[in-house]
Amino acid sequence: MKREMIIVLDFGGQYNQLIARRVRECDVYAEVHPYTMSLEKIKEMNPKGIIFTGGPNSVYGEDSPRCGAEIFELGIPILGICYGSQLMSYLLGGTVETAPVSEYGKTEVDIDNTSVIFEGVSEKTICWMSHTDYISKAPEGFKITATTPVCPVAAMELPEKKLYSVQFHPEVMHTQEGMKMLSNFVYKVCACQGSWKMDSFVESTIQEIRGKIGDGKVLCALSGGVDSSVAAVMLAKAVGKQLTCVFVDHGLLRKNEGDEVESVFGPEGTYDLNFIRVNAQDRFYAKLKGVTEPEEKRKIIGEEFIRVFEEEAKKIGTVDFLVQGTIYPDVIESGLGKSATIKSHHNVGGLPDYVDFKEIVEPLRMLFKDEVRKAGRELGIPEYLVSRQPFPGPGLGVRIIGEVTAEKVRIVQEADAIYREEVAKAGCDKDLGQYFAALTNMRSVGVMGDERTYDYAIALRAVLTSDFMTAEAAELPWAVLNKATNRIVNEVKGVNRVLYDCTGKPPATIEFE
Ligand code: XMP
Repeated sequence: MKREMIIVLDFGGQYNQLIARRVRECDVYAEVHPYTMSLEKIKEMNPKGIIFTGGPNSVYGEDSPRCGAEIFELGIPILGICYGSQLMSYLLGGTVETAPVSEYGKTEVDIDNTSVIFEGVSEKTICWMSHTDYISKAPEGFKITATTPVCPVAAMELPEKKLYSVQFHPEVMHTQEGMKMLSNFVYKVCACQGSWKMDSFVESTIQEIRGKIGDGKVLCALSGGVDSSVAAVMLAKAVGKQLTCVFVDHGLLRKNEGDEVESVFGPEGTYDLNFIRVNAQDRFYAKLKGVTEPEEKRKIIGEEFIRVFEEEAKKIGTVDFLVQGTIYPDVIESGLGKSATIKSHHNVGGLPDYVDFKEIVEPLRMLFKDEVRKAGRELGIPEYLVSRQPFPGPGLGVRIIGEVTAEKVRIVQEADAIYREEVAKAGCDKDLGQYFAALTNMRSVGVMGDERTYDYAIALRAVLTSDFMTAEAAELPWAVLNKATNRIVNEVKGVNRVLYDCTGKPPATIEFE
């Protein structure tokens, strides 16, 4: 199916993915490509519009990313953002200068809302600025459509050639009316129809998969996480019993998680597929015995996972396809535009190199995480699976500091279940990026009844984050922390102290190991 598309041309900006996501939130499909993409390729893709991203460089820098000015002659609408705006100006004969001080943060911008980009936007609107260079003189013929006291060309346009640019970042939330501007660009300038809808994506992908797979055999490593679950269900809908899902329970899952996965995908579940659950808890605990070094633990868990998966795959024999739950951010991060580098998912410690398969199927390759969740809902996957928080491949192995034992797994599972229940009950879970309990390796003295105790301390963590690269500790209401603490020390044997982790990332990481 030929779909309408916006190309986001990446000039190294930190918001490249975000721009594509925002465009897709307008129901228009967008892909991120490197600025080096050839004009021929662009023409071949036939986009409805192009957006130049921001970037950390100055247009005058020797190694600055630049495209040729011929791109402006294609007749395709272009919106330049930040560096992309300066580049447009520079390539078309305007002047870019370096300001003595940067303009950074939320800034009130005066805009001309007779411009199609700003239709329906307030005359004074708060936008997110982050730049040192600025356009001091727009190229000939361009009309200036926004200014700030320090930025004479905060937006400019040449409607006859469908060229538009903004110095600020419409894609970030701090730009209060940014979505309206992006929507104006894709609908009013690029004349998009808004055909990017998850139901039609799901339907057409299932058809595509069916065509590709024919009567081949398919193998999927199901972790119970959002991506592998959605990928598995798509495959099940496409080829039913030709699909075998192997679910390795490494004994490091959250409380009841193994059974939850089985209830959905197993024989009593909703889908028509072959499901194999491997209860490998003891194998993992045996391998982890006495190991305390975090990287070594991760390596052991990853390798053992592959070994167990391989053993099961061997029993099935040769398969034609192996399913991977790769999603679009993985594709973008593992080398823009370069051919299908398959990121060795730290989840499962890489691809099983000996499993005999001919090809990889990646049904979610072009989806962002929130779109994967939407697709999951379209497919009727239960909400508790679809809205699951990210959970690391090595599981509770990285939430138990030091040696992992079955007893410690029990403690952290119980504490984590109580904590999650209390946070959800208080309705605080909606805004949190991730929250969980971890088991510190610290034991300390306490008193319970009239007895001295010498037990473990549980650490509670809750973070706000949108990208998981940086995070802030969340300010959970004291009442919630207090309730969870009381319940944990009363209900979980072996715990006499609960601590709250107030550290952001950096300097801490989200997980403890
Ligand atoms: P850190 O601890 O590095 O975590 O701040 C960032 C995000 O990545 C998740 N994470 C993992 N996810 N396999 C995964 O699939 C892993 O080995 C792994 N380690 C950390 C973590 O839960 C957080 O969301």
